[in-house]
Amino acid sequence: MTLVGLLSWSALSLVVAWALYSWTCLLQNYLTARKVGIPIRILPISHGNPFWMIVDKAVISFFKLLPFGRSNFTRYNWRGWEIEDKCRSHLEMGDVYMQVDGAQWKKQRKITATCFNEQNNAIVWAEALSQATAMGDYWASKSAVKSTADDTRTLSLHVLSRAGFGRSFEFQGHDEKSANVLATNYKESLQIVLDNCVLIMALGTKFLSNPWLPLRLRRVHEACQSFQAYLTELYETEKNYFSDANSRDRTLMASLVRESGSEAKTSNGLTESEIFGNMFVFNFAGHDTTTHTLTFAIMYLAVNPSVQDWVFEEVDLVFGDRPVEEWNYEVDFPRLKRCLSVLMETVRLYTPVPVAKWTGDRVQSLEIGEQTITVPTNTMVIPSYTALHTHPGYWGSDSLNWHPARWIKSSDLPAATNDMSQEEIISPQRGTFIAWSEGDRSCPGKKFSQVESVATIAGLIRKWKVDPVVQSGEILEDARKRVLHLIETDSAQVLLLQMLHPDKAPLVWRKR
Ligand code: HEM
Repeated sequence: MTLVGLLSWSALSLVVAWALYSWTCLLQNYLTARKVGIPIRILPISHGNPFWMIVDKAVISFFKLLPFGRSNFTRYNWRGWEIEDKCRSHLEMGDVYMQVDGAQWKKQRKITATCFNEQNNAIVWAEALSQATAMGDYWASKSAVKSTADDTRTLSLHVLSRAGFGRSFEFQGHDEKSANVLATNYKESLQIVLDNCVLIMALGTKFLSNPWLPLRLRRVHEACQSFQAYLTELYETEKNYFSDANSRDRTLMASLVRESGSEAKTSNGLTESEIFGNMFVFNFAGHDTTTHTLTFAIMYLAVNPSVQDWVFEEVDLVFGDRPVEEWNYEVDFPRLKRCLSVLMETVRLYTPVPVAKWTGDRVQSLEIGEQTITVPTNTMVIPSYTALHTHPGYWGSDSLNWHPARWIKSSDLPAATNDMSQEEIISPQRGTFIAWSEGDRSCPGKKFSQVESVATIAGLIRKWKVDPVVQSGEILEDARKRVLHLIETDSAQVLLLQMLHPDKAPLVWRKR
């Protein structure tokens, strides 16, 4: 046999062996799942398979074109299927809920949770207001804003940079040239790392440094290095402040260094590499989550002028003529319930983070109505937040519509004496709203993201009104319908759930 023939046979044998191994695992999983006693859908390829993560959507789109292409495979075997499916599967098969925990994570979480405190939230508030004010002015200076997503990304990056790591950057609109090299490097390297996360996880940073790879892939490696260097520089600066007993305000980084230092004296504090891990997680978890959510929220506001007016009533009541510099986190934030409801309603329909849980080494029980069933060890469970958040049983017959007022409980006073300051945010029934997850594992940045979003919404609505740009042959109502259609049909999970082409919905900002 020739060398080429031998290599071909070896490659074929490997593929066959891999396929046989995968199918044996699938059979085992199927037999285990049958014992659990809940409805089963079989996925031939794991959602966690790194190669599949890169090609899943392309392959599924191809299969959907085939005459026999519509099946459970094309319905479920890709990341983000639940966003399209909403509550359909649960209406067909029933509802479930469960929770897990682990030891190493608990140590990290104890320390990182202390970083997210009220002093930090006050920094988030001030920075978000200052960035939103500059962003509003920039948007209003243009006849049409196509860069909603890019600019909200800048805003959330700058808030994170200030409240997370003590570095402040002036807001820079998408079409404005940045004079700040440091801001550009940080922004660009973080963006490349986030955009290529799946690729980095699948291939590893070391592999990406190979000189024979295409330039695009080597740039990903360079971005990883430059981002790491940036984090190192921030860390060293903060360490010096800490050792000088000169630590400044309560940024996430300052708290991390301080807490890990004091924990180290008593028990087991964070090591240096754990601190870097946490810094990366803060960047990773705290940046695009808020960016995509704010983009959805702004688009929804643009197609709902009555909601803008409803939010303005509250902003006007709370701030009156006070200049933005005098807006106070402790006093004013808790009063902005309508602003908060805009965020809550947006993450109800467009929850950015896909949550996956493992049962770990313990068998877990799963509650389904009156029934308790048992989930085996080492099983991945993906709670379908989209189904929960759109289920008419919890959210009413208009569950698919964006309606922030559903989050507000009015005062019990008669309508004539209805006092806006008595309004309260409702607490949904436990387990029916998991946008920030629930229980011990819930997102530690929940309030951070709420403060940032509320400050941004209040800062914008206070001064401006927003509409979609009317295209030729349209009236304003048509433009609103077009943008709503874009939100509903052109959003999907990339790494997080996001609008795929927000630039297709240019907006216009006018003085109120
Ligand atoms: C709308 C905005 C946000 C949403 C919807 C969101 C949602 C979530 C969810 C669902 C989780 C997973 C929890 C789990 O494993 O069950 C999570 C984890 C996390 N989030 Fe957020 N998040 C948001 C913003 C933020 C921000 C702004 C930060 C920090 C600045 C942040 C920091 C984190 C961290 C550190 C974790 C990991 C927690 C752990 O495993 O201990 N998040 N987030």
